[in-house]
Amino acid sequence: MRILGIESSADETVASVVEDGHKLLSNVVASSVDLTTAYGGIVPEIAARSHLEVITPVIEKALRSAKTGWDKIDAIAVTQGPGLIGSLLIGVLTARTLAIAKNKPLYAINHVQAHVFATFLTETSLPGYKLSAKQPEFPLLALIVSGGHTQLALFKSHTSYKLLGQTTDDAVGEAFDKVAKMLGLPYPGGPSIEKAAQKGNPKAIKLPYAKLENPYDFSFSGLKTAVLRAAQAVSGHDYTFPSSGLPEALTQAQKVDIAASFQHTAVQTLVDNLKKAYEQYQPASVVIAGGVAANQKLRKQASAQLSTPVIYPDIKLCTDNAAMIAALGYFQAKSGPKPTSPYSLEVDPSLKM
Ligand code: KG4
Ligand code: ZN
Repeated sequence: MRILGIESSADETVASVVEDGHKLLSNVVASSVDLTTAYGGIVPEIAARSHLEVITPVIEKALRSAKTGWDKIDAIAVTQGPGLIGSLLIGVLTARTLAIAKNKPLYAINHVQAHVFATFLTETSLPGYKLSAKQPEFPLLALIVSGGHTQLALFKSHTSYKLLGQTTDDAVGEAFDKVAKMLGLPYPGGPSIEKAAQKGNPKAIKLPYAKLENPYDFSFSGLKTAVLRAAQAVSGHDYTFPSSGLPEALTQAQKVDIAASFQHTAVQTLVDNLKKAYEQYQPASVVIAGGVAANQKLRKQASAQLSTPVIYPDIKLCTDNAAMIAALGYFQAKSGPKPTSPYSLEVDPSLKM
């Protein structure tokens, strides 16, 4: 069964063809990240316009690169949410139109849940992918960490899961992005912080860990404020000093120490909850997915502290992609919610897991 996946929830327009939920036939990405970088973050109108310009060629290229045609596509899977409304609309309207015109079943996909399914891709003849040989097993404990989400979930099957915990404020990727901005490091903040942190001392600044009622929930806004206060103090100012002045006021040595200390605390917060859930639920597999899963310090701390190997998507499938959308589409087609009506599918910018 071949599924065309379409993803347009943020600033990347992606189309992918996946066979039987595990074989990656194509993954074509067009990104407006250059524009995003120029503005220091996603500008929703620019992202939506960019999706509109490239979505048709991206889909055509995904079919060509998979060496397939519409006659061999069995279904379409599209991100319904969460995400930016203007961006989601372009993907969903395109998928609805194609589903009607080509007479294909249409599956509505939750983007956050789909991040986990990047680890179900085990085979490809495309160059440059390092996929794990075997799919994760159930029960599956998943930590989904991205720019918009921080979720800890226990999957009983591909389509049935229990949400154990989530962030009560900022997503962890968002915290990386905001701290990077504070230090004057380029967007996206995750890779910038990771690079700066390599030269810094993770113990230079003591930062707080949030204590929450649900032991599996996360909070990063207090950490972000603590980083701000520490940066103001080490640069010789008080709490009234504006964060916009910090990139000038801090020395390079102070910046790398702040980056390393923040990264250490943010990563340890994630690993602590993952470890608690692992010990309580004894899952058969543990997956970390989403943009922040690319972080090497997270991988190191998780493997040092968990008594089981963690499964990660290929680095190119950690950030937003359509292969994960197509893979989850396959499992929904097999055993999940029925196909949706292409005449009435609406986007859901705040779709929950
Ligand atoms: O999954 P993703 O591409 O988009 C969302 O669904 O949000 O994740 C993007 C997020 C950004 O916040 C980015 O800063 C973060 O993932 N990120 C990282 C790293 N690479 C990307 N965070 C920490 N370390 C990294 N190496
Ligand atoms: Zn994502």
